[in-house]
Amino acid sequence: MLSEIQETIVKSFQVLQTTQLVKDKYENILEHLDSGIILFDRNGMLTFINVQMARLLGVSRSSIRGCSLTQIIRHSQMGRFNKRKILRIYKETIIYKKRYHELSDENGRYWLLTVTYGDQMDGDYLISAKDVSDHKQIEQTAYQNDKLAMLGKISASIAHEIRNPLTAIRGFIQLLRPHLLQLGKDEYARIILMEIDRANDIICEFLNSSKPSAPQTITVPVLPLLKEVVLLTESEALLKGCEIVLHEGQSALNISVDVKQIKQVILNIIKNALDAISDLGHYHIGIINLEVKEDLDNAYIHISDNGKGMDHNTLARLFDPFFTTKLSGTGLGLSVSYRIIKNHGGFISVNSTAGEGTEFIISLPKV
Ligand SMILES: Nc1ncnc2c1ncn2[C@@H]1O[C@H](COP(=O)(O)OP(=O)(O)OP(=O)(O)O)[C@@H](O)[C@H]1O
Ligand SMILES: [Mg+2]
Repeated sequence: MLSEIQETIVKSFQVLQTTQLVKDKYENILEHLDSGIILFDRNGMLTFINVQMARLLGVSRSSIRGCSLTQIIRHSQMGRFNKRKILRIYKETIIYKKRYHELSDENGRYWLLTVTYGDQMDGDYLISAKDVSDHKQIEQTAYQNDKLAMLGKISASIAHEIRNPLTAIRGFIQLLRPHLLQLGKDEYARIILMEIDRANDIICEFLNSSKPSAPQTITVPVLPLLKEVVLLTESEALLKGCEIVLHEGQSALNISVDVKQIKQVILNIIKNALDAISDLGHYHIGIINLEVKEDLDNAYIHISDNGKGMDHNTLARLFDPFFTTKLSGTGLGLSVSYRIIKNHGGFISVNSTAGEGTEFIISLPKV
């Protein structure tokens, strides 16, 4: 009889030991999970908190174990930001009974909180926090891209629709022109036609630039092409007290490009350089250097300026469509240039230091 009791006690002890081992194992897993977990009993007392959740709340686990919610909020170790965070979680999940709540921490990371309670929890409240920053970033990028694509489409369709009435106005002015001539007002007709043509040009340029077509490539020497662009910009440079220097090193280098599109890219970059230089005021002596280099596979067009340069924020968003720091800029110049060069199988890189200047390097595959 005694040995039977002994056997039962030993067995019970073994079962207890195994149960304890299993409990320890699961607790260990929960403690080191990458999601935060906190458990309150039906009286609002904290019964479990894992490492991640303690880190999120900015307190040591030992100091809040067994505390009630009120004691946690009054905890001396906890900063004001975290106290407010807990109060918000309490309000959203317990008072408003929301099962999900999203919050961001002081490092800018996003956390999705899920609350579980009710019959299956035996009166306990389980709150888990999952780091969803990466999902959030993907979501925001997708939203941003959608917005930009939509904006691009709307602006392109508005530009397109403005062209139709302009064509009608142009036609009627031409019909009226002989009558205006009789009245000695031909000058008016000339100005109207000129202005309509200018508006049309702007729209065409916008429509072309917001959607560069496939390049119609021909093989051309790179230096004469650069010379032509420099000629186009020289008068503006002169007005801004700036010198454009074309270094004629690799005179015989050929590239296979859509000449119109590449001219547009170089023009965009030089115009930006002129703006960056004139932002430094009249007394700053601006200089823009153009130079061609090459290696085995590529030709490199270097365009550098001693303008105001760029900070990290501008550099990071430089090629984004509609990103501009100028009052009258569209922010399309570089995004279109980037796409044009990519369509040619090349790439654009940038080095810039705020207050010192900027260098753009256009790389194009050699013929
Ligand atoms: N050489 C440069 N030096 C300093 N900042 C520059 C330079 N080139 C570009 N940037 C910055 O990059 C931004 C985007 O340039 P981008 O050419 O795409 O648009 P934009 O010049 O502002 O407008 P748009 O070209 O449509 O008139 C500019 O607003 C400017 O802040
Ligand atoms: Mg520009």
